[in-house]
Amino acid sequence: MIVVIDGPAGSGKSSTAKAVAANLQIQFLDSGALYRVATLLYLDVNKDLPQFFDTLRESEISFHFKNEKFHAYLNGRDVSDQIRSMEVSEHVSEVASNPDVRAHINDLMREVVKSDIYIADGRDLGTAVFPDAALKFFMVADLDTRAQRRYQEVKAQGKDVTLEEVKQNIAGRDEKDSNRDSDPLKKADDAILVDTSEMSFEEQVAFISEKIERLISTQ
Ligand code: DC
Repeated sequence: MIVVIDGPAGSGKSSTAKAVAANLQIQFLDSGALYRVATLLYLDVNKDLPQFFDTLRESEISFHFKNEKFHAYLNGRDVSDQIRSMEVSEHVSEVASNPDVRAHINDLMREVVKSDIYIADGRDLGTAVFPDAALKFFMVADLDTRAQRRYQEVKAQGKDVTLEEVKQNIAGRDEKDSNRDSDPLKKADDAILVDTSEMSFEEQVAFISEKIERLISTQ
């Protein structure tokens, strides 16, 4: 069974999905992290597209969720911290806009979720990757709230960025992610809209957990 949360950068999807997964003892999949791992490969080959596709095909991207932490691995190496760098954030939308990259990551995700109950977060999960998901949420929040949240997150990792840089990065990614040709960020018609601008984190987690629990209890 798969439950999806889509939405723009910084809307709180990942942290909410992670807490819900820990609450309900289900698995968590951060699809953005997989695009970020692909971006590491792209930067490793100095943005040489043919070489990037060869390396992507030959590489193993995997992940593991334990104790409320999502770990992403590239060929067995834990790259969870590296994928959060500003350099990766600046190039990830470019990489994620490529249809071949999307097909590769989508195949990987569809295979993995067959084995368990998952909550996954992303941009196009409810529309393109898992159109038959058991439950779909679309999480939004205003730009200032999202920038402030991401800024706190990046600062907590000891990184040297300004709030304005984070805000520009998020606004730029919103624009690219929403307007790309290949599976753009979009609310599925049957997704439940959750505006978190005025919600506390606990309220977000409780709202989504309750809906999933109700669904599980009826199955
Ligand atoms: O969730 P995030 O900010 O870590 O995602 C990084 C980028 O990956 C985001 O700018 C767009 C892309 N992405 C995507 O295109 N499709 C997804 N399902 C998830 C993320």
